[in-house]
Amino acid sequence: MKVITGIDQTKKIVSLIKEKKLTIALVPTMGYLHQGHLSLMREAKKKADLLFISIFVNPAQFGPSEDFEKYPRDFNRDRRLAEQEGVSYIFHPDAQEMYGGDFKTFVQVEELDSIMCGQRRPGHFRGVCTVVLKLFNIIKPDIAVFGQKDYQQLAILKKMSKDLNLDVKISAIETVRENDGLAVSSRNKYLDPRQRENAPVLYKSLKAAEEALRKGFGIQRAEKEACRLLEANDFVKGIDYLDIRDARTLGPVLDKKNKSDILIAGAIQIGDTRLIDNIIYRRS
Ligand code: PAF
Repeated sequence: MKVITGIDQTKKIVSLIKEKKLTIALVPTMGYLHQGHLSLMREAKKKADLLFISIFVNPAQFGPSEDFEKYPRDFNRDRRLAEQEGVSYIFHPDAQEMYGGDFKTFVQVEELDSIMCGQRRPGHFRGVCTVVLKLFNIIKPDIAVFGQKDYQQLAILKKMSKDLNLDVKISAIETVRENDGLAVSSRNKYLDPRQRENAPVLYKSLKAAEEALRKGFGIQRAEKEACRLLEANDFVKGIDYLDIRDARTLGPVLDKKNKSDILIAGAIQIGDTRLIDNIIYRRS
């Protein structure tokens, strides 16, 4: 396994790989690897000859009062884990390499970026799209694998890829959960033991909404059921959103005759930590 920090060097390696007609899978990450990332890597590895991961805590996707500085980082541990997973290359640039010079170009997927997480985190998805497009241009993957835990991110990246005619195939894997249902995330590290114990309430609330829909209740009632659970938990300091949407369009759920999948998604604040999660309710 090789660690590369420079863009030019990466492009040269990628050219040689392409000359040999080998295919590349990419798993973009911000590091502090967990079981979710490892599942992405395992899946990605099956789909191409060589596996690249990127480890870059992307400043462009953090707001001024967000956790960019304290975002957990442990490159040596990440490197060990990546090696165990059979990663061929880690692309690990610094911010100067990615955004140095007079950087002025950003990519935005309109509308989809201003609902749900985008409401609370203006500019977040613009930062994500920009860095992911840069990674695609540098590494030229045939396939890139993302987690469904960041469902909105995934939808936005698919839309970017379609609208900009990118050649990369975007693939997704299901959310990896702890035994008690909490979605694995690098940010879970911020939770103290009592907060950690209470954090699965988010998943439980999504399941409560799903149960309400299954029983034939409407969207409002289902959202209410979920919020009731969240509001009853003293550790939940705020509900950013609890949204039920069409899983394909992220627009409103159309009438009951429409059988498309339903996204039940939420973001909450536990202490200083923002947690997000979602599940898909399949109507057919
Ligand atoms: O999901 C993440 O970890 C990040 O948003 C990503 C896709 C690596 C871009 O920085």
